[in-house]
Amino acid sequence: RRRRPAAPCPAVPAVILLLQEAIPQHFWCIPFSVDGNPAPSVRWLFNGSALAEGPYIHTRIVEYEHNSTVLHGCLQLNRPTHVNNGNYTLLVRNALGSAARTVQGRFMDNPFSFNPEDSLQGPVETPDEHAFGVSVAVALAVCACFFLSVTLIALNKCGRRSKFGINRKPPSLPRPQGCGSPSGGVHHVQRRDIVLKWELGEGAFGKVFLAECYNLLPEQEKMLVAVKALKEATESARLDFQREAELLTVLQHEHIVRFYGVCTDGEPLVMVFEYMKHGDLNRFLRSHGPDAKILDEGKGQPCGQLTLSHMLQIATQIASGMVYLASLHFVHRDLATRNCLVGHDLVVKIGDFGMSRDIYSTDYYRVGGRTMLPIRWMPPESILYRKFTTESDIWSFGVVLWEIFTYGKQPWYQLSNTEAIECITQGRELERPRTCPSEVYDIMQSCWQREPQQRQGIRELHSRLQALVKTPPVYLDILG
Ligand SMILES: *[C@@H]1O[C@H](CO)[C@@H](O)[C@H](O)[C@H]1NC(C)=O
Repeated sequence: RRRRPAAPCPAVPAVILLLQEAIPQHFWCIPFSVDGNPAPSVRWLFNGSALAEGPYIHTRIVEYEHNSTVLHGCLQLNRPTHVNNGNYTLLVRNALGSAARTVQGRFMDNPFSFNPEDSLQGPVETPDEHAFGVSVAVALAVCACFFLSVTLIALNKCGRRSKFGINRKPPSLPRPQGCGSPSGGVHHVQRRDIVLKWELGEGAFGKVFLAECYNLLPEQEKMLVAVKALKEATESARLDFQREAELLTVLQHEHIVRFYGVCTDGEPLVMVFEYMKHGDLNRFLRSHGPDAKILDEGKGQPCGQLTLSHMLQIATQIASGMVYLASLHFVHRDLATRNCLVGHDLVVKIGDFGMSRDIYSTDYYRVGGRTMLPIRWMPPESILYRKFTTESDIWSFGVVLWEIFTYGKQPWYQLSNTEAIECITQGRELERPRTCPSEVYDIMQSCWQREPQQRQGIRELHSRLQALVKTPPVYLDILG
């Protein structure tokens, strides 16, 4: 008879040594350690009923301890969502005994009962306040998504195809540090550092999610981000993605939505952006106009209707971002309030996720098969000759000012697309909004000169707005 090995194998009743909360990994893992000799069976209950294991959820033994009967493993979950939240009970049994232990799994918050701000800032005091915050935050978050991309798509296309008329001079572009690497200085984020929370929106390119990102900035362990996930990963989509990422890496300004980097280890390809909690500016303006119900968003945020001082602040910030883009010879081509985002403390930045054509489709006029043009924001030369330049961006900036002072009305809302085209090309101007002082309407009109060269430069427009922010005409207070 052979001798049993000396140390390891006394009979051991099945026991659970450890069961911990789920760890976000490529697959989520609920880690456990069990002991038992003979080796115990391992089963799970989910909310008290037997958990059927399959390709999406299954037990995986990760490690057998050397010279011991202890097993370490994971209940592995592939892309769990809020429906997987609940109690996971581990049951182990062998001939000598059995044990059970339960741990709560919380993978994703239900999009309809959760306020993104809470996860980082702790619980809200009262249930009522919570419910209110949720609807507002979710609604705004949903509209936030569109943005980052028009910039992206527009800029990207412009960079590649001369027919879009971009004027940038590649050699003069500033390069962030790390330049010269094969990926053009684009920062890479590890997939395991991104924990998706829920979908913010969908566009033709794919989806945008709210997510938590770990280890992104040295001063914060984790932070909320907006994650744009590419649907297709064909070779040409990958190339576009890479170009777009390189372009975005170059665009760093306090009034351009911040791009943090990409995640390309595995699928889907992902871009990581700053999360702007109030969503897109058009939605924000509409929800803070005369028709909006009063929103009390606490300190630092405007309550109810925006004042003229708020409007001037918004306009000045967009102008500042445009000064920057113009300095890089970037032509935006789709500047509009739907393509700006609003963050904390009325911070406004230019940026979008490329979903405007899906979500604000009525702002675009479809020509030919797939081209959708924002004709209501376009000057005559862009409509007639598809000419897009820094000067056509200035025209659009004037229209953005008009949007701000009308609390987000659609330009020429009373006209059909073809009627609007006729008006614009014949030289008719948008009327002065009721709450708009003549100083501001003057600025709009200097953007709407028919001759592109006659339009005022964005630098001057920015200075004029800055001056108005500093010393608003006295009567502004009455209107506000
Ligand atoms: C999970 O367990 C906790 C604590 O025992 C309990 O309060 C909760 O209701 C359970 N949830 C479900 C879905 O069974």
